[in-house]
Amino acid sequence: MTRFDGKVAVVTGSGNGIGRAIALALANAGARVVVSDVLVEDGQRTVQEISDLGGSAAFVAADVSVPEQAQNLIESASSTYGGLDILVNNAGIGGGYARLHEVDPEAFDRVVRVNLGGTFLCSKYAIPHFLAQGDGRIVNIASTYGLVGAPNAPAYCASKAAIINLTRQLAVDYGHDQIRVNAICPGYIDTSLGRRRSSLNAEQIAEATARREKAAGMQPLGRQAQPSEVADAVLFLAGDGASFMTGSIVTVDGGCTTTFNYGEASN
Ligand SMILES: NC(=O)c1ccc[n+]([C@@H]2O[C@H](COP(=O)([O-])OP(=O)(O)OC[C@H]3O[C@@H](n4cnc5c(N)ncnc54)[C@H](O)[C@@H]3O)[C@@H](O)[C@H]2O)c1
Repeated sequence: MTRFDGKVAVVTGSGNGIGRAIALALANAGARVVVSDVLVEDGQRTVQEISDLGGSAAFVAADVSVPEQAQNLIESASSTYGGLDILVNNAGIGGGYARLHEVDPEAFDRVVRVNLGGTFLCSKYAIPHFLAQGDGRIVNIASTYGLVGAPNAPAYCASKAAIINLTRQLAVDYGHDQIRVNAICPGYIDTSLGRRRSSLNAEQIAEATARREKAAGMQPLGRQAQPSEVADAVLFLAGDGASFMTGSIVTVDGGCTTTFNYGEASN
């Protein structure tokens, strides 16, 4: 397994789900991790979990869609640990789930501001640190919904597609500076974003969960993934094993974007 001893990593949205798993995995591999989230207690819990396992972590509260908070996150990380090597742009939200003509403009804007805007802002403030040290790694968490259209998710699909091409664009602009920028497209991952939609009641959540499990069951690997299975891919892309990879868009989706789905299990 790649080691990250001495490296400093920022993971946005690491109070829960995939971000939490990435933070734990990086810390387990020796990195000093700056955990960040809008949810203070959740972020602090991740820090505690890392400490309990003997790792090193600090928490900085930040809403990645707010420029001052994104900047404060990056500057605090660098000053706390004396540098910055890895940025994982993981924080993301769903929302505005409807066909486009029924989507509230504010809901659309919020999804784009957090998912795409947060990736832009954290990268913007991290890149000067990477330029100064002549090395840096960014891993963006996009989605399979950025590769294909999905029902009733115009804002989410558009924001994730934009992250994918921003990843390629940054790879072009910063390759000569030894800053590698790659993206991961998770498929069905069993997290609260996958399970919960705040606008739904308990019965609707149970129904949506059952529908999601059924849909995941029809993909080639036939199940949802655990967040740690995404973290494994992040560690690979952030590590020296991926030294010639930049601008790569890596699916971690159990094969769901590899095939037409005829509405039946593939095996
Ligand atoms: N779960 C899936 O099936 C799935 C699939 C594809 C992509 N993704 C992507 O993976 C990433 C993580 O998703 P998850 O499933 O772990 O979600 P989650 O809801 O379990 O966790 C997301 C975390 O991000 C935080 N967050 C939300 N808005 C924020 C903001 N403005 N600033 C800082 N933190 C913020 C939340 O508080 C939460 O702790 C997201 O970008 C999501 O779009 C998830």
